[in-house]
Amino acid sequence: MPRLVLATSNHSKIQEIKGILDALPIEVVASSEYKGIPDIIEDGETFEDNAICKAITVTKATGEVSLADDSGLEVDALHGAPGVYSARFAGENIPLGKERDRANYEKLLQLLKGVKDGKRTARFRCVIAIAAPGGKINLVQGVCEGKIGFLPDGTGGFGYDPVFIPNGQNRSFAALPQDIKNTISHRARALKASLPIIKGFFHLI
Ligand code: IMP
Repeated sequence: MPRLVLATSNHSKIQEIKGILDALPIEVVASSEYKGIPDIIEDGETFEDNAICKAITVTKATGEVSLADDSGLEVDALHGAPGVYSARFAGENIPLGKERDRANYEKLLQLLKGVKDGKRTARFRCVIAIAAPGGKINLVQGVCEGKIGFLPDGTGGFGYDPVFIPNGQNRSFAALPQDIKNTISHRARALKASLPIIKGFFHLI
């Protein structure tokens, strides 16, 4: 069976991607199943740069088609920040995980102090790059529009979920059931958009 290697070690992303690609007659494996893949420094200026760099690195190291994603939050009142710096908005020396997540969204709430409801518009954006050994590379993206709340809400999810209220909902991603997030999220939308491209790479259409 043809093989697609996911350029991520994030367990929940791997499960989410496998769930959506489940219907295809391909084997989906994480890059952690291979030895010798070089560390990838995500210091690109755009989501596209980071996703392409990750996908090409994994394809070169494994000789297989690979899929990489990069995502973040864009806040209009902050001219698109934190954007590509979403993961390290509050600083790189804060331990990764819940502590970093809280520091990031608290910094965001602080910067938006005094910004009225109608001006708190924002979106999560996810870019997916799919690369093949011959050098072929394709990009797709998914966007989830919403706004930044005034206070954290909910305990689920990760990252900026407690402060992001998607359009059409009145609770944050962290307070909504996971299946709702998995249907409307930027990542779910980018993954769905990547399906025809993956089929094309594996000559399934
Ligand atoms: P990544 O490129 O998907 O690892 O995302 C980079 C950063 O964007 C994460 O560390 C989070 O801070 C933020 N982010 C991306 N996707 C989400 C999401 O679905 N919910 C909350 N935060 C997210």
